[in-house]
Amino acid sequence: MPAIKNILARKVFDSRGVETLEVDVITENGFGRVAAPFGAAGSRGKFEAPAYSPEGLSKSIEIIETEIKPKLLGLPSTDQGRIDSILREIDGTNNFERIGGNTSSSISLAVAKAAASALKMPLYKYLALNNDFTYPYPLGNMIGGGAHSMGSAPDMQEHLVVTIGARNIEEAVATNIKVHEKIGKALEVKDLSFAGGMDDERAWVANLTDVEALDIVYDVCQKVTEETGIGFGIGLDLAADRLWNSKTKEYEYQREGRSRTAQEQIGFVSSLIEKYNLFYVEDAFHSDDYLSFAVLNKKYGKRCFICADDLFASNPERTKRGIKLNSANAMIIKPNQVGTLTGTLETFKIAQENGVKVIVSHRSGETYDSSIAHIAVGWQLPMIKTGVLGGERLAKLNELLRIHEDYRMAALGLYPRS
Ligand code: PGA
Ligand code: ZN
Repeated sequence: MPAIKNILARKVFDSRGVETLEVDVITENGFGRVAAPFGAAGSRGKFEAPAYSPEGLSKSIEIIETEIKPKLLGLPSTDQGRIDSILREIDGTNNFERIGGNTSSSISLAVAKAAASALKMPLYKYLALNNDFTYPYPLGNMIGGGAHSMGSAPDMQEHLVVTIGARNIEEAVATNIKVHEKIGKALEVKDLSFAGGMDDERAWVANLTDVEALDIVYDVCQKVTEETGIGFGIGLDLAADRLWNSKTKEYEYQREGRSRTAQEQIGFVSSLIEKYNLFYVEDAFHSDDYLSFAVLNKKYGKRCFICADDLFASNPERTKRGIKLNSANAMIIKPNQVGTLTGTLETFKIAQENGVKVIVSHRSGETYDSSIAHIAVGWQLPMIKTGVLGGERLAKLNELLRIHEDYRMAALGLYPRS
């Protein structure tokens, strides 16, 4: 029962250069460090837990020092449920509105990491729900737009690719990197003003409409399939909250120069699913519109992941509501949206029991932290959304390669850590 001996909290900077919270949890023989990721203004879900105290990050650090640390010191780091419920009690609101979801989730995950380290276990094994592990397919952001970019980029936030039929995680990661590189070359030909720009998640940014971006992604995927024999699914994250104008009740596509009503949005997204045989569509509608999601899910749920990110916001109650209305057949989980590891697991279990596939995701502002790779393997999630390039994105993908090595070596009885 490795007890928590110390908790340290400090400011560091994320991949966008924005201040974020880093927490160290020190136990007898164990150490866990987590730096929180952060969504972009304009793309963070409006129903997710706020990141910090309303008075800011410094206040959150003060709360850790004066309120959280005194309550957690001495507790067994392995008692994740108790620690997470203490964080909830200290916060005192329904959605971590007082201390912030980044505050609670950093502590929660750092406690799990410290406990795993004290037990000399890799985190994925410590988090595992049974003795089976699987590797998620990486869902890679290839062409960016929306709130993650600047200038005349596409309106939709992410044009995504996932390999189908890569033989192992290394091949899946390498193939996504190859597709990303070839898309860059194709953009150089298509857009004469393209100068190699990338967005917050290291997706390419070019002067394109969404349909032009999809055409390029589709062509490159076909070429790489011819070359390698590996198939692809193409996906979109519309992050439609940002497109939605609640006054005019229309989705505004500024780059394309037109607007769409909810009905027209359903028609437009349906036509893209048909034309590009889309495998994955995230947040096609704004986060109050459970019903349009349900229409799309009814129409295409058998052949395409109709995924809820901002709609469910990793929140158990919103997830239950979406399940009742059959709004999605897949959902994103982000631990800092719901605030604790236990809360994330609760949401995961609700989804899983109801046949909704769960995909773990990075945020647009990221850090070195690779806990989501361990969650994906330990909870046997089908996909991980991490971006393709950038140290902070590759931190998760490279961790999957290390986990793969650890697992193979352990299976052969050769690896001392396991
Ligand atoms: P965010 O965007 O991390 O900026 O919220 C990611 C997403 O919408 O999937
Ligand atoms: Zn999203």
